[in-house]
Amino acid sequence: MCLGRPALARAREFLLVAAYILLPALVLACCYTNKHGHMMVYATMTTRFFVFLLLGVCSAGHLLMAADGPPVWAYGTSPEAAAGAPPKGAPDTSIKHLADSQGAFTKAQIGDRFAPADWYPGDHPVMPEIISHGRKPEVWACGLCHYPNGKGRPENAGVAGYSAPYFIEQMRKFREGERSSADKRKNNTNVMIAIAKAMTDDEIKAAADYYAAMKWTPWIKVVETKTAPKTYTNVGMYLPLEGNEKEAIGERIIETPVDAEETEGLRNPRSGFIAYAPIGSVKKGEALVTGNHGKSVACGVCHGSDLKGLGPVPGLAGRSPSYLVRQMYDMQQGTRHGNWTELMKPAVNGLSSEDLLNIAAYLASRTP
Ligand code: HEC
Ligand code: HEC
Repeated sequence: MCLGRPALARAREFLLVAAYILLPALVLACCYTNKHGHMMVYATMTTRFFVFLLLGVCSAGHLLMAADGPPVWAYGTSPEAAAGAPPKGAPDTSIKHLADSQGAFTKAQIGDRFAPADWYPGDHPVMPEIISHGRKPEVWACGLCHYPNGKGRPENAGVAGYSAPYFIEQMRKFREGERSSADKRKNNTNVMIAIAKAMTDDEIKAAADYYAAMKWTPWIKVVETKTAPKTYTNVGMYLPLEGNEKEAIGERIIETPVDAEETEGLRNPRSGFIAYAPIGSVKKGEALVTGNHGKSVACGVCHGSDLKGLGPVPGLAGRSPSYLVRQMYDMQQGTRHGNWTELMKPAVNGLSSEDLLNIAAYLASRTP
């Protein structure tokens, strides 16, 4: 029988804690005070052997747990990942413009939680109030993070093109504690939960209908490569470090804006992303998604043979690989659970972190 990953993780933690309690206990048990009043350790070959064995268990447990933690490249939350960020200068108060837009906004206006810039009003239907302005104090305008066109960014989610029932179900999950990030440091997911909790059913329906009326169209370009730009994270978004240096990609997908200033500085909802992925990842992912390999079940049965969604089951084609991996990892860890998510368990529970990466590379590379 195959143990679920949460069960495995718990077993490992148990082993580690037990070893840590046993180790000092064993050492203490071997202590005695000699005639000069000095504390001595009496250790036969057998006790020495057990101490070494326990030390071994501890380090192996640590290695396994480290290897199993939330993939840093997908969550972008660890302090190390933020290293190298350029120092914040004085606030830029100049008026900004974008090509083919009548808009003129300062950076403060662009990032206004209750009235973010709408650069291209012609790109989308008229926004309901909740998308354009939110509702003070808790409900930030959805358009700030997910953009008025629903394209979203890797550190949040693309929300265009989902069916309204799926969208509403996710809001219910956020509200009722069935959906949170496996990495509690991911603060924007915590903000998302607070927003959902403060919303009325009518507001949720208006937001769901608005974004469901839009199609999901290509937004992320997957590029297989041996090297990726050296990056730092800013609130979960990977941005290239100054100097445009490259480094080995390793077991990561690095999803970063095509133009960092247009995305991070100006929140241009027409400027998309590049996902650098390891060589061969798309093909390996395809085998996992479509194949019959005993590790998982074919995804197309529920998500549609073209992976563009089927009824209330969400589309996966062309979505952000970082986002997709966070969701699958959250499901493995059980922080996204309950109704509907149960259906996903047999699909994700047997997958390794490398499998998740390859699957996400393949799904993101599909034309939506
Ligand atoms: C502070 C940024 C932010 C704002 C503002 C925001 N969201 Fe989100 N949203 C997120 C994040 C972060 C996630 C989840 C990402 C994750 O779990 O990895 C998310 C996820 C979602 C999802 C789930 C998408 C999916 O594919 O399952 C929905 C639906 C959603 N948001 C709706 C809304 C609505 C409606 C509003 C406005 C009332 C809103 N969001 C405002 C950050 C935000
Ligand atoms: C038995 C049906 C079924 C199968 C098979 C299935 N899924 Fe799902 N999947 C679902 C359902 C239902 C949801 C929505 C779950 C929820 O609401 O939490 C979902 C959600 C997801 C999500 C989250 C999407 C989002 O926007 O947040 C991802 C990622 C995903 N599935 C990937 C896969 C992959 C990869 C496979 C194949 C290895 C797969 N699924 C196989 C039913 C299925």
